[in-house]
Amino acid sequence: MLKETIESLNLKPGQIAVDCTLGLGGHSIEILKVIGPKGSLFAFEKDERNLVPAKARLEEVAENFEIFHDSFASLKDRLRGKGCDQINAIIFDLGLSSPHVDQPERGFSFRKDGPLDMRFDASKGFTAADILNSWPEEKVAEIFWKYGEERRSRKLAKAVKMQKIHTTLELARLVEKVLGETRVAAIFQSLRIAVNEELEALELALTQAIELLAPQGRVVVLSYHSLEDRIVKSIFKQFATDLRDPTDIFGGRVLRHKVLSLLSKKPILPSQEEVNINPRARSAKMRVAEKL
Ligand SMILES: C[S@@+](CC[C@H](N)C(=O)[O-])C[C@H]1O[C@@H](n2cnc3c(N)ncnc32)[C@H](O)[C@@H]1O
Repeated sequence: MLKETIESLNLKPGQIAVDCTLGLGGHSIEILKVIGPKGSLFAFEKDERNLVPAKARLEEVAENFEIFHDSFASLKDRLRGKGCDQINAIIFDLGLSSPHVDQPERGFSFRKDGPLDMRFDASKGFTAADILNSWPEEKVAEIFWKYGEERRSRKLAKAVKMQKIHTTLELARLVEKVLGETRVAAIFQSLRIAVNEELEALELALTQAIELLAPQGRVVVLSYHSLEDRIVKSIFKQFATDLRDPTDIFGGRVLRHKVLSLLSKKPILPSQEEVNINPRARSAKMRVAEKL
């Protein structure tokens, strides 16, 4: 959905854009082409291993960009630090980049063996193996339940606690044995969300993004599973509605006027043709909103 995504940002030459999920720079390169040499691009990427190739690719097309090796949860602080408090467009393309899926040593793959890591930023925090081997059984079950929507979360957490798990294939085989092959992807996803505190970061950053947008500025989010999409839908709806005082029994005094207009009531999905070419796009959902 690269073309639709870039069109949805509705950027003009000379404007300021933010790419919250640089990855290997696919979206950033197209943004730089639209905003031209008078525009500015700020990009965030948590995984240092993606920064070097992405920066090299961006340098081939422009020099008016700045990359932060940081979480997009620091959006407002980082931009204010650069003297920027209004932006024209912002994009979030959530989830894994292709090296995360293709390189087993990054610890995300359930098809090829690697260390059970799953950190986007390998320089900080705890790994998926740390969670499984050191966290209490109830906490582990809660992750499978909340982030994997797994009904048999307790059964799996109990089985996990009977052994030490160090590699991705050890975990994949255990999940297959306890829950069946169809649940492996969801269990891996649940650990990834917990390790990277993904949903908390998304909530924080989306709210900041809406605040930073200039009038007629656009926010575009590409999400890949229902937990992410639910957050995007709910935050967009919250800011696209007047907030009324529930204690004001007469008129429902407005505490905060709506600041967003939803450009897509339903999420935009990839075409069948795109899914045939790129099967990873099959779960993508795009939502677009505009600042009033
Ligand atoms: C789907 S990929 C983006 C691909 C990119 N749009 C491209 O065209 O190459 C998502 C990227 O976001 C990064 N990421 C995930 N959560 C992040 C966060 N909270 N802050 C910054 N980067 C994050 C991941 O490391 C990954 O490289």
